[in-house]
Amino acid sequence: MKIVSVTDNQEMSKKAAEIIRELVLRKPDAVLGLATGGTPEGTYQQLVKDHQENGTSYRSIRTVNLDEYAGIDPKDPNSYYAYMKQHFFDHVDLPDGQYFLPNGLDTSKEACMRYDALIDSLGGVDLQLLGIGRNGHIGFNEPGSSLTLGTHVVKLTESTRHANARYFGSIEDVPTEAVTMGIGTILKSRKILLIASGEEKADALGKLVLANRADSRFPASALTQHKNVIIIADEAALSQT
Ligand code: GLP
Repeated sequence: MKIVSVTDNQEMSKKAAEIIRELVLRKPDAVLGLATGGTPEGTYQQLVKDHQENGTSYRSIRTVNLDEYAGIDPKDPNSYYAYMKQHFFDHVDLPDGQYFLPNGLDTSKEACMRYDALIDSLGGVDLQLLGIGRNGHIGFNEPGSSLTLGTHVVKLTESTRHANARYFGSIEDVPTEAVTMGIGTILKSRKILLIASGEEKADALGKLVLANRADSRFPASALTQHKNVIIIADEAALSQT
């Protein structure tokens, strides 16, 4: 794992966007694995700015997202589909039909298997962008998750529901389940870029940097099994390393 320390969220976003941009320029039909949450917002902002100012094109790019809430309609403003439209898809020239998210309204085993088959049919993920949950979850793979599974349905922990309640009216409105790429899916990506910012991630980052083996109690530790991981984190997030 290569760790890049930056001063703040803005520098983290700029560096992450630079890595994505470099891939898009080098491989115009790359498959990008995308993430949601507060952390990548600045990265998408930088990519949109770069698209507008420098014309970096996403015309032949394909994207697959990590996860989606179960039981949430893509049209719901709280869906990750809506988040991606709002922060990225609607502002670049990525054609409809070239971006994919798990379907929160079809949580069947078949639908999960179809999502993994879709990723394979695209040629696999070239670069997977990841955030990290305070409890070390990646995607929505909560502590205790299998480290080898493909896309599947998970029950969200109370701490994750609380952390994400800021996007919903109240905690009761936060879904209790989600569909997520499994850690097995994530580890198949050719390169992984994990970004983290702020003191609330310091505990998780401290554990991740020290991890020397995969332990399902701390899902992000699975990244120790991957050969091409880069972590870009700011000083606050790295304060316990
Ligand atoms: C959510 C997402 C994750 C994300 C994590 C951290 O639960 N499913 O993909 O990495 O929370 O989110 P944030 O960046 O808002 O702290």
